[in-house]
Amino acid sequence: MKTIPVLLLGCGGVGQQLLHHVVNCRSLHSKQGLVLRVIGVADSRSLLVVDDATTMEMDDAFLMAICRAKSSGSPLSSLLDIGQCQLFKDFNATIKVIAVAGLLGRSTGLAVVDCSASSETIDTLKQVSGLGCCVVLANKKPLTCGIEDFDKLTLHYRGIRFESTVGAGLPVIASVTRLLMSGDPILHIIGSLSGTLGYVMSELEDGKPFSQVVQAAKYLGYTEPDPRDDLSGMDVARKALILARLLGWRIDMDDIKVESLYPEELGHGSMSTEDFLGSGLSQLDKNIEERVKAASLKGNVLRYVCVIEDHRCQVGLQELPKNSPLGRLRGSDNVVEIYSRCYKSSPLVIQGAGAGNDTTAAGVLADIIDLQDLFNCRNSS
Ligand SMILES: NC(=O)c1ccc[n+]([C@@H]2O[C@H](COP(=O)([O-])OP(=O)(O)OC[C@H]3O[C@@H](n4cnc5c(N)ncnc54)[C@H](OP(=O)(O)O)[C@@H]3O)[C@@H](O)[C@H]2O)c1
Ligand SMILES: *[C@@H]1O[C@H](CO)[C@@H](O)[C@H](O)[C@H]1NC(C)=O
Ligand SMILES: *[C@@H]1O[C@H](CO)[C@@H](O)[C@H](O)[C@H]1NC(C)=O
Repeated sequence: MKTIPVLLLGCGGVGQQLLHHVVNCRSLHSKQGLVLRVIGVADSRSLLVVDDATTMEMDDAFLMAICRAKSSGSPLSSLLDIGQCQLFKDFNATIKVIAVAGLLGRSTGLAVVDCSASSETIDTLKQVSGLGCCVVLANKKPLTCGIEDFDKLTLHYRGIRFESTVGAGLPVIASVTRLLMSGDPILHIIGSLSGTLGYVMSELEDGKPFSQVVQAAKYLGYTEPDPRDDLSGMDVARKALILARLLGWRIDMDDIKVESLYPEELGHGSMSTEDFLGSGLSQLDKNIEERVKAASLKGNVLRYVCVIEDHRCQVGLQELPKNSPLGRLRGSDNVVEIYSRCYKSSPLVIQGAGAGNDTTAAGVLADIIDLQDLFNCRNSS
């Protein structure tokens, strides 16, 4: 049996689901000769870690107790029975993560998994990767700060995976990487990478007003608590930046042209969420309706996409043929079209659910397993 130690940073929707997947996949993994050993879990304030990271692990009952506490909104530090674990707070938690990484990084390829939504994990991730750990991210932020941080994190590019940062569990990054590694140059990527905006844009085709569609999306739970966080396009821009950097582009967030679907006058600084939903949103209806109509007259539909092509990385509304993979999109699926030498006239198309705790966590788990196969090779060579 090969043992894979795992240390999880962030135990929200995705992190908890990852722990469930780990427990539910025990027999599947053991058939492959693999055992995942969770040795530590952190939230924003503290780290719970086993007394002796080289020999011990958190058992399944304890992992489920952690999930119950976190899903009821309690901090890790509220767990009463922590058995043979220790609790570290604040800065001590960070120091302990580094210490464990030093102990297990080179000898075992400890997987440090970032399922937080914080940019504060960057320094820890850079350090642990320098100590030989494998790094897996669902969190986009460490990859979308400065290019120097991106370079450092991806320096050992075979020791890091971040599939779930773009399109959740969909194999977007894996597909791009395979093309690049085979010498098939990528000419153009265009994608709808927001389930929320994909839903909104496709519903507009039926002639419904924008405000009504956004309200419905909010009601269905597709949007952030404040829909402006989706409508700003910033989340799509982060995904576009990760893809562009993957192609080797040395660009920053500022280099991406991002079209927000609301003007600054309706922004966070000017009105509350309630006012935006109540009176702000409907002010946008007329303009969007005109754009949808203009597109429709040409046999096109309007989509909110990221485009990466010819030194241009931009995010915003675009008219696309009705009869293209992106044009046919209905509902909240993500769609990515990749054009390369081999996929020139007929693109490689990846489509499916691009969000959700379950698919995102499944993508993270697949990354952990994938990396460890590699670690085996590295050790035996
Ligand atoms: N959900 C999806 O569909 C989806 C899809 C693709 C990617 N993602 C990405 O996956 C990540 C996790 O998403 P989520 O929905 O699970 O978020 P979430 O529910 O907000 O959970 C975030 C977790 O990270 C913890 N945390 C915050 N700062 C931390 C730090 N410095 N160190 C360690 N832990 C820290 C939080 O602690 P507290 O519990 O103490 O607040 C919380 O447990 C995000 O980056 C998100 O963008 C999500
Ligand atoms: C993801 O998990 C969080 C925390 O358990 C939960 O509040 C949220 O509803 C889940 N999201 C979905 C789409 O299931
Ligand atoms: C950090 O660890 C030191 C030494 O063990 C301890 O004295 C201190 O109280 C700890 N700090 C926190 C915030 O737990």
